[in-house]
Amino acid sequence: MKIFLDTANLESIKKFNDMGLLDGITTNPSLMSKEGGNPKNAMEEITKIIKGDVSLEVVSTEYSGMMEEGKRLREYGDNVVVKVPMTPDGLKACKSLSSEGIPVNVTLIFSANQALLAAKSGAKYVSPFIGRLDDIGQDGMNLIKDIKEIFKNYPDFKTQILVASIRHPLHVIDAAKIGADVVTLPPVVLDKMMQHPLTKIGLENFLIDWEKLKDKNPDIQI
Ligand code: G3P
Repeated sequence: MKIFLDTANLESIKKFNDMGLLDGITTNPSLMSKEGGNPKNAMEEITKIIKGDVSLEVVSTEYSGMMEEGKRLREYGDNVVVKVPMTPDGLKACKSLSSEGIPVNVTLIFSANQALLAAKSGAKYVSPFIGRLDDIGQDGMNLIKDIKEIFKNYPDFKTQILVASIRHPLHVIDAAKIGADVVTLPPVVLDKMMQHPLTKIGLENFLIDWEKLKDKNPDIQI
């Protein structure tokens, strides 16, 4: 399973990229807005730091605007994936951009039907938002199971399932068990995945015991 970071925060991107954890990045207008500043700089930097796919989202809602923006976004790098919303115009732009060799991520997917249509339009990724479904009392992970089953039935679909709107580490485990292709994680979730109280206690004890040994052998070093 690939891990993408769901952020436009350069500090977080560098931090996790230095650990070798990141296969790509997803952004959206809300994440750009959260960082403030000029999104152009963020997009330039992110596409330079990350070798894998970087999803950058259009803000036009009609076909021709999406096409223009998609092509402009693609100028940031060959690793740019154009993110379009799951609308009729979005699907038309998905079809056109994909036919021109520009990969597309269809976002704001909340049903298996939408995922099926995005795959038919040639999307490289579909982004089902599981946390937002959970928020309204629908089981987001069931949607991932349904999409996985459908795509498995039709091996001609090359579209990858990119699980988005992830809220906590259990979402990641469940997505991996289902066999989702990608999870895109807020930095806070990736931080939590690394932690375990027994790891912390274990390390503290190793260091305490080492200090005891050093008291008796002041010159030792590793
Ligand atoms: O990638 C889409 C994701 O950022 C949406 O997450 O937390 O706003 O539902 P959220």
